[in-house]
Amino acid sequence: MKTSLLATLALFITLTNSQVLVAADAEHGRTLYRAYCAQCHGVEGDGFGVNSPDMEVAPKDHTETAEMQTRNDADLFKAIKDGGKAVDKSALMPNWDANLNDDEIHALVAYLRILSKTGSQ
Ligand code: HEC
Repeated sequence: MKTSLLATLALFITLTNSQVLVAADAEHGRTLYRAYCAQCHGVEGDGFGVNSPDMEVAPKDHTETAEMQTRNDADLFKAIKDGGKAVDKSALMPNWDANLNDDEIHALVAYLRILSKTGSQ
């Protein structure tokens, strides 16, 4: 416990402030992703969640770097907040505005950037 706390502190000290904020945000996003998104998008974000075999439209593979690069942060935020239909995608992607606040959605977008190995844009 003490060792991991020290390791975490050491990591934070070696990062700049903004990197720490992004890292903390993405970590929060990962927890949210596992709770709310993994059943369709998969624990690894590759689109193979437990629901995916029964779905008419495949959940997005969030590890697809080339495709995820074509979406900016605002697109991803809108898809999560207002659902697939709001960004001309399938309504099988639910809207999360009733369950997640804007900070949580920003954290999810930060995590999607890590999953897809694309930078914030
Ligand atoms: C009930 C299943 C389901 C759940 C739960 C779900 N999604 Fe989706 N999601 C989908 C489907 C299906 C698509 C693909 C829509 C399409 O391609 O038309 C999608 C698409 C998306 C897209 C749009 C990708 C693009 O093509 O631009 C984002 C972003 C996204 N999901 C994020 C999330 C996040 C974050 C969560 C958790 C808060 C989540 N999804 C939960 C089914 C789901």
